[in-house]
Amino acid sequence: CGIVGYIGKKKTTKVLLDGLKELEYRGYDSAGVALLDCENIEVYKALGKLENLKEKTKNILENDYNLGIGHTRWATHGKPTELNAHPHLGEYSYVVHNGIIENYKELKDDLIKKGHKFISQTDTEVIVHLFENINNKINDTTQAFKDTISQLEGAFSILLITKANPDKIYFFKHGSPLIVAKGNEEKEVLFASSDAPLIGLAKKVVYLEDKVGGVASAENIEFFTDEFSWSTLPESKQFAQKNGFRFFMEKEIYEQSDVVSDCMLGRIQDNTVTFDEIEPSIIEGINEIKICACGTSYHAGMTSSYFFERLSKIKCHVEIASEFRYKEPLLSKDTLFIVISQSGETADTLEALKMAKKAGLKTLVICNVDNSSMTRLADFTILTRAGIEKGVASTKAFSTQTIVLWLLSLYFAKIRNSISSEKMQKELLALREVPKALIISDKIHEKTKRLSKRYLHGHGFFFIGRDVFYPLALEGALKLKEISYLHAEGYPAGEMKHGPIALADPELFTIALMPKNLLYDKVKSNVEELSARDSTICSISPLDFELSDDFIKINETEHYMLEFFEMLVVLQLLSMEISIRLGNDVDMPRNLAKSVTVE
Ligand code: G6P
Repeated sequence: CGIVGYIGKKKTTKVLLDGLKELEYRGYDSAGVALLDCENIEVYKALGKLENLKEKTKNILENDYNLGIGHTRWATHGKPTELNAHPHLGEYSYVVHNGIIENYKELKDDLIKKGHKFISQTDTEVIVHLFENINNKINDTTQAFKDTISQLEGAFSILLITKANPDKIYFFKHGSPLIVAKGNEEKEVLFASSDAPLIGLAKKVVYLEDKVGGVASAENIEFFTDEFSWSTLPESKQFAQKNGFRFFMEKEIYEQSDVVSDCMLGRIQDNTVTFDEIEPSIIEGINEIKICACGTSYHAGMTSSYFFERLSKIKCHVEIASEFRYKEPLLSKDTLFIVISQSGETADTLEALKMAKKAGLKTLVICNVDNSSMTRLADFTILTRAGIEKGVASTKAFSTQTIVLWLLSLYFAKIRNSISSEKMQKELLALREVPKALIISDKIHEKTKRLSKRYLHGHGFFFIGRDVFYPLALEGALKLKEISYLHAEGYPAGEMKHGPIALADPELFTIALMPKNLLYDKVKSNVEELSARDSTICSISPLDFELSDDFIKINETEHYMLEFFEMLVVLQLLSMEISIRLGNDVDMPRNLAKSVTVE
């Protein structure tokens, strides 16, 4: 979701709508604004894209207000309806919120007993009722806000306005990002979830740390703690959009830790997996899963086939969409048909989906773009919530797809009773650790940068791995091909001896994926066979491997998927650094397009 807030002399509605436009990629289920003028609060909400809210507010664009708050949402608790859209109201206050209030049920039950009336299904609504409940007793809005915050558990970045103190916006950050800015004009304060909406309107900003809050009026921004510092906002939007990174691809690689958290938000609860978008009946009568996709999305699909068989105990087949289309496939109704697509527009995948629909199969799309052709067509959609991906070489789309598919396999496993609760807890524990595994240390990035200069020539690359590390090897090779234009192939490590090993010599580079937690000894033997034939070996592993010419050490963890994500980042960085050294256009590599809408 995205949050904006404004206090100042400009036309509030317009400032808020412009800000929300910049944040729309963070969610587009619904949007809303609350505008406060003296003692009067007006609220406007609309389902779907921001355009709908614009339409509803077109007559008030020129009105003057003291201040306002706005929100663009993707649903976590409660379906995307107008009632569930933010801002949420109590008797005399409004709130916008990003995150999840984990203890909302207890709070809500308690507030209902005390006579508060709830109208939405969201967790957010408790914030505003709790605030009013306290304020009614103590009649001190600042203290009531502080007390409210102290009772909330979970993740919550909040803006709150109230008729009881109509010149102020209360703010608090915990979890999702929130920025406070001094506007370029006098007596102007702005808020936003990312810096893009603030560019051009403000220069001095505080990127709030977790658990920092305060209260702002036109005259003053008061923080509740000393833990904040002012910084200067970049002036160019392009630069801001890249957040100081050299390329969108680099920014997107670094964003993975955050977007993966967003992707999991609300989907792991009470030690189990839930999806608001689907129902357990989706898997009723299903004996097989068929997955179709292209490019990187196909690799996410391949990875998941191991999960569906290993965890959900359902047969799973994965096919490249362009192959599937013309093979006259035999489709039976006990098959759940899943398509995976970042854009939701790839022509071959879309056609495969149409074929499955026509054959009467249940269909599900895992997609990053809501309202895309595929989400409109499929019976069910699960969004990956990666945010806009600009780099043509897909990065964060892959990590979020993989997370959704892993979660989905556990969701099915739960319904089909195919997993012990012990194993389920182990998987969930690992899932929760993924954002940490995706944080990139300077050491790792430096290492890939240094190593990249040794891998600019030679007659080719083999990326090898076993099990889920085989699709990961395919993805590593694809990244390198896409942006470096070097020949690279992904191969199952155990299959090298059946042909490709004939190519081995010092000019053949082998990138070996050697996880500690999965088939380590098997891969090791395969790599030894290549080393014995003089291939140059670069291994990526938490364990030292003496035969490596180069070695990239990742952290030692207890689950193979944590190794998977750490290796993924290494592979992405390595191909990017090689591409940069070769002087290529990292974000827009030759001959490729972000979304391929022709077959
Ligand atoms: C293009 C892009 C790839 C992407 C593939 C599938 O080839 O360059 O990065 O993986 O399409 O796209 P989709 O949007 O369906 O995931």
